[in-house]
Amino acid sequence: MENSSRKVLVKVPASTANLGPGFDTLGMALDLYAWIEMGFAEQTVIEFFGDQVKGVPADKSNLIYKVAQMVFERAGVSHPELYIGMYSEIPLTRGLGSSASAIVGALAAANALIGSPLSDDELFQMATGLEQHPDNVGASLFGGLVVAFWDGTRAEHIRVEPHGQLEVLVAIPHFQLSTEKARGVLPREQSLENAVFNVGHSSLLVAALCTGRLDMIACAMKDALHQPYRAALVPGLGQILAEATDRGALGVALSGAGPTILALVDRRSSRKAELERFMVDTLRKEGIDATTMWLNPDKHGVQVHPLTPEDERCTLLEKIKGEVRA
Ligand code: HSE
Repeated sequence: MENSSRKVLVKVPASTANLGPGFDTLGMALDLYAWIEMGFAEQTVIEFFGDQVKGVPADKSNLIYKVAQMVFERAGVSHPELYIGMYSEIPLTRGLGSSASAIVGALAAANALIGSPLSDDELFQMATGLEQHPDNVGASLFGGLVVAFWDGTRAEHIRVEPHGQLEVLVAIPHFQLSTEKARGVLPREQSLENAVFNVGHSSLLVAALCTGRLDMIACAMKDALHQPYRAALVPGLGQILAEATDRGALGVALSGAGPTILALVDRRSSRKAELERFMVDTLRKEGIDATTMWLNPDKHGVQVHPLTPEDERCTLLEKIKGEVRA
């Protein structure tokens, strides 16, 4: 318990998964955040701040509480009573990795609270086991672009620095789509042609992102494994996938399991407003309202801040004031 803190604050990024062809394999962290404060307590108190976490359980069935207990169990310590505070900008169940950020934030906070006995790799293995795919959790944990694979036992990853000119436009529809439902529409078997299509495109995309070949992204982000089946769940997605690169996007994809649609954009582009209007109007024609946000890749992954006794006197919102989006 040496080096342990009484309370810690972690800042954890949202993420997008798949980037088109890299199903369950590619993830990128985004500069939209959740903050989790965690400390030892006499009695468990779980508090949420902000609109994005409405309806999340605030008792010991809470995911953050349960994940923290897994860390303590793995480390061989016992801390059943906790203070947990959370503020999140990441919309729930929209394909921006909100559950992955909660898992990663809880793992990092609980580990820091007991003096960080678990390595980043151990946290990654635990997070992947909980999410069942490493793309979102890898990005939230390590930041940047993460290329990862999980064989059901171990996850491996390589982190790639995102290209400096990459900006991200997300159109977040005003409806929720569970990952379970979006995975439920996928066929259990795929043709060899589709497999070859995706291996080729995903490999090309990673190579393009590693070498700065932004011109190759439009072609490389195409997918045959999941988006064609998920298009029916997000009306307008098919048209946006087909046309966004003619409207100023470098490439376009469903973000994770959706319903958010994500476009990669060259930040020097003069066509940003045109692209944004196209995505919003296309969804609106299908009767879907959407909020757009211009984001950047997050390069840090989860960040842990031990709190001083002075910090502890402030509320969570006071501590993160100036960092949260308006
Ligand atoms: N790779 C996953 C999917 C992301 O597309 O189903 C969802 O978390």
